[in-house]
Amino acid sequence: MNPGIVTASYIGATILFILALGGLSNQESARRGNIYGIIGMILALLATIAGVTANVGILIGGLVVGGTIGLVLAKRVQMTEMPELVAILHSLVGMAAVLVGFANFMDPNAHFEGAELTIHDIETYLGILIGAITFSGSVIAFGKLSGKITGNPMLLPGRHWLNLGLLIATIYICKMFVDQSAAGQGGGLMPLLIMTGIALLFGIHMVMAIGGADMPVVVSMLNSYSGWAASATGFMLNNDLLIVTGALVGSSGAILSYIMCRAMNRKFLAVIAGGFGTTSGASSAAEGEQGEVVALEPHEVAELLKEAKEVMIIPGYGMAVAQAQHIVHEITKRLRDKKVNVRFGIHPVAGRMPGHMNVLLAEARVPYDIVYEMDEINDDFPEVDVSVVIGANDIVNPSAQTDPYSPIAGMPVLECWKGKTTVVLKRSMATGYAGVQNPLFFKENTRMLFGDAAKSLEAVFKDL
Ligand code: TAP
Repeated sequence: MNPGIVTASYIGATILFILALGGLSNQESARRGNIYGIIGMILALLATIAGVTANVGILIGGLVVGGTIGLVLAKRVQMTEMPELVAILHSLVGMAAVLVGFANFMDPNAHFEGAELTIHDIETYLGILIGAITFSGSVIAFGKLSGKITGNPMLLPGRHWLNLGLLIATIYICKMFVDQSAAGQGGGLMPLLIMTGIALLFGIHMVMAIGGADMPVVVSMLNSYSGWAASATGFMLNNDLLIVTGALVGSSGAILSYIMCRAMNRKFLAVIAGGFGTTSGASSAAEGEQGEVVALEPHEVAELLKEAKEVMIIPGYGMAVAQAQHIVHEITKRLRDKKVNVRFGIHPVAGRMPGHMNVLLAEARVPYDIVYEMDEINDDFPEVDVSVVIGANDIVNPSAQTDPYSPIAGMPVLECWKGKTTVVLKRSMATGYAGVQNPLFFKENTRMLFGDAAKSLEAVFKDL
C-alpha cells in the first residue's frame, strides 16, 4: 500500500487513541471512548498489515492466534479477576519488547555505523531492559494478585543497596555492550544477555518487595512500564504509531499511579521501595480494639431506610463479589420513589481496580448524577441518616486516621461514622484487603447485617 496512506492511517489511529483516553476520563463518555479506542486499534492493525510486504501469512497467523487467545480470556475473566488479566497482559508486552530487541540486535540486514549505530544500540538496550523488568515484574504481580504467591512483602536485608547495585551494573554493562557492538563481528551479545538476566531479577525483586495493599499501584506502574516498553519497540521497529501509543500508555499509567498514590496518601517512591501492606501490623492499636457489635435483621434495616431522609451507599469489594449492584439499584429506585435522597460515595481505591465500583454501578444502570467521588461527599456525613456500607472495609476504616501504626495510616477514608447510623453488610468479622481490624464495626452507631450482600439486600428489598 502507498506509504502515505499508511502514515495517514497511523495519524488517524493516534487521534482516535487520544480521544479514547479523553473519553475514559468521564463515565458518561466512557463508552464512546472505548469505541474510539476499538476503531483506532482496528485502523492501526489494518494499516500495519497493509504496510507489510513480506511474510504477511505469518503476520495474519499470529494475529489470529493472539486475537483468539485474547477473546477467550476476556470472555472468561470475572470482573474481580480483571487486575490479574491486566498484569499478565502487561507481561506479554514486556516479553514482546525483549524478543523484538534481540531480533533487532541480530538482524543481518541492519547496517548502522558511527553515531547511528550507538543510538540504535542504546534503543535496543533500553527496549530489552524495560521489557524484561516489565515481563518478570508483571508475572510476579499476577502471582500475587491471584494468590499463587504470598501477598506479604519479601524484604531482603540491604535491598535498596541491591537495587542500586543492579542499576549501576546495568549502566556499566550498557557501555560494554555499545563498545563491543561498535567493534563489530557480532559483538555485544554477552552483555545483552547478562543485562537481560539482571533486569529479570530486578523485576522479580521489585514486585516481591511490595505488599498486597500496594498492588493496585504496582499494576498501574507496570502498565506505565509496558507503555514505555512498547514505545522502545516502536523506536526499534521504526514504527511511529507504536512510539506514540506506547508513550500514551506510559504517561497515562504514570499519572494513574500518581493519582492512586494520592488516594492512599502514599508517596510513589515509598510504594516502589516496598514494604507496605504487611499483615504483621501487630503494634497496631486497632488489633486489640474489640468490643460488642450489634447485628440487625434485614427487616430492621428496611425500617431504618424507610425512616431516613438522607442515605449514603458505600460500595466496596464485597459488592463486586456478591454481584449485588443490581439489587442495590432496585433498592435505590424504591427509596428515591419514596423521596429519600440516595447518593453513592465512591472511594478512589474501592474494590480491586481503579473505577471498579463505577463500572459495576454503570452496568446496573445507576444514574451517574447520584454517584459521587469521596472528596465531593466526605463532608456531608453529619447530615446523613443511614450509611449503607456494602462489602467495604478498608475504605471506611477510621484507624487510618487514628492509628499511626496501622498499615493504612494516612489513607483518606469515607467518614461514615460521622453520620447518624451506619449499616455494614458483610459475611463475617473477617478483615479486608489490608488485613487490619476495623473499629467502625464496634462503634455505638454502627449496625451489622451479616450474610452475602446480594442475599441480604434482596431480603431488605422485600421488606421495603
Ligand atoms: P476490602 O477492604 O477488601 O473489604 C471487602 C469486604 O467485603 C471484606 O471485609 C469482606 O468481608 C466483604 N465481602 C466479601 N465478599 C462479600 C460478600 N459476598 N458479601 C458481603 N460482603 C462481602 O474492600 P474495600 O473496602 O473495597 O477496600 C479496597 C481495598 O483493596 C483497599 O485496601 C485497597 O487499597 C485495596 N485494593 C484496591 C485496588 C483498587 S485500584 N481499587 C486494587 C487492589 C487492592 P467478609 O469476608 O466478612 O464478607
